[in-house]
Amino acid sequence: MSLFAKKSIAVLLEEASESEKSLKRTLSAGSLVALGIGAIIGAGLFVRTASAIAQNAGPSVTYGFLLASLGCAFAGLCYAELSSSIPIAGSAYTYTYATMGELMAWIIGWDLILEYAVGAATVGIAWAEYFNNLLVEVLHVSPVPYQWCHSPFQTSVDGVSGIANLPALFIVTIISLLLIKGTQESAFVNGIIVIVKVAIVILIIGFGWNYINPVNHTPFIPEATQYTDREGLTFNYGGFWGILGAAGTVFFAFIGFDAVSTAAQETKNPKTAMPIGILGSLVICTILYVLFSYVLTGLAPVEFFRTSGKEASVVAAINVYMPGYHWLGTLVTIAILGGFSSVILVMLLGQSRVFYSMSTDGLMPKMFSDLHPKFKTPYKASLMILVLVALFAGFVPGDIVGDMTSIGTLFAFILVCIAVLVLRKTEPNMKREFKTPWVPFVPIMGILTCTAMIAGLHWSNWLRLLGWLAIGFVIYFTYSKKHSVLGKTGKTVEPKDPPKPEYPEI
Ligand code: ALA
Repeated sequence: MSLFAKKSIAVLLEEASESEKSLKRTLSAGSLVALGIGAIIGAGLFVRTASAIAQNAGPSVTYGFLLASLGCAFAGLCYAELSSSIPIAGSAYTYTYATMGELMAWIIGWDLILEYAVGAATVGIAWAEYFNNLLVEVLHVSPVPYQWCHSPFQTSVDGVSGIANLPALFIVTIISLLLIKGTQESAFVNGIIVIVKVAIVILIIGFGWNYINPVNHTPFIPEATQYTDREGLTFNYGGFWGILGAAGTVFFAFIGFDAVSTAAQETKNPKTAMPIGILGSLVICTILYVLFSYVLTGLAPVEFFRTSGKEASVVAAINVYMPGYHWLGTLVTIAILGGFSSVILVMLLGQSRVFYSMSTDGLMPKMFSDLHPKFKTPYKASLMILVLVALFAGFVPGDIVGDMTSIGTLFAFILVCIAVLVLRKTEPNMKREFKTPWVPFVPIMGILTCTAMIAGLHWSNWLRLLGWLAIGFVIYFTYSKKHSVLGKTGKTVEPKDPPKPEYPEI
């Protein structure tokens, strides 16, 4: 069977309607927006923003957010077309299998590990920063010692080397176990968390506005120069490249709105609800992010985010530059720990869905689609994902996993935009409830903006992406190609299709 063998869309839709028997359609457009915001607001805003300010752009990180949101909107419109016409679990992986064939599907499935698993690790590391803040500022006890909350690649100002990030390992383990158990209550919990997250962002914008120091906003776009961090990496700071680099970094803050598209099978009336869910959550978050980053860069000078405000940056800035608002810092710390947990949950869930789909297609070992006898969740896949996420969360610095997530996701977005262009040519008559407007302009703009953001990221990230894809190719040609169900039988599902899992409601 050729590398470009495609799943037929008709068969895909048939599979989807079969699996409807086991997957419950419970989500409305409103719950999709909530799901989106639940997945979106997290470490990107509360941790990566400070990195982008320090390393790339200073106050002009605001423009970085705008650029990133533009790329997401273009790609989001493409996601919406695909998810409304191929409403099947598995996200970009499934769309690519139908449009560009098996090898491309493998590449994107492999690449999505960067988005979901490495992304979850990034948020786990962010959780560790704010957890330490909770211990010191709220509970007034000793923090976790530096070596036990940093990776071996990090060294403190006093020369202490990290060993492992234990709090990050702790949180990703707890959430993985929760997913294996598959809790029904979490739809309600997720709703509360979304409200709390949006509320704290609004509170910070509202109260922080009065503490903006115009000096910190001058010049708003710093002059182009270079900045070398403590680990010795040199970044383009300021000017056009600074904004591009910041966009690539804070792009992380938007990741998740596409996770909405992975819930298509559990959505009532997906053809109209999906586009509303995807774009609605994107618009709300963009407005909040731009205002938030304007306030944050107004509170503190850039130097603060390079030194004492490098970790748990938002609360650090509130505590130092907003006298009398220690209570807000405390509130934010507690709320964001819950908020980060919900992001980790959604990302790990997205990852388990992609692994599940790849495993039923034979591209990943069959055991990853084995369901737990009691909980009916793909527990072996979740355990494998836990090992992977733990390696990244425990032993790699947050800046590195954060930018790896960004670049991997940007790459996936580019492929999704290409998929829309291809599908319009190869399946012109396919029923599309939602059509991306202004094709080919929108997909092409999506490809260009996402490529520009990749170009803005530090070159070491390009190498990491290439390295990751190279490992993926080796696995594909030594394992997946031989075991592909489509390759072996010419059909997309094995004759005895295993029961579909009952994923937890979120
Ligand atoms: N957008 C998510 C976050 O910022 C991944 O944590």
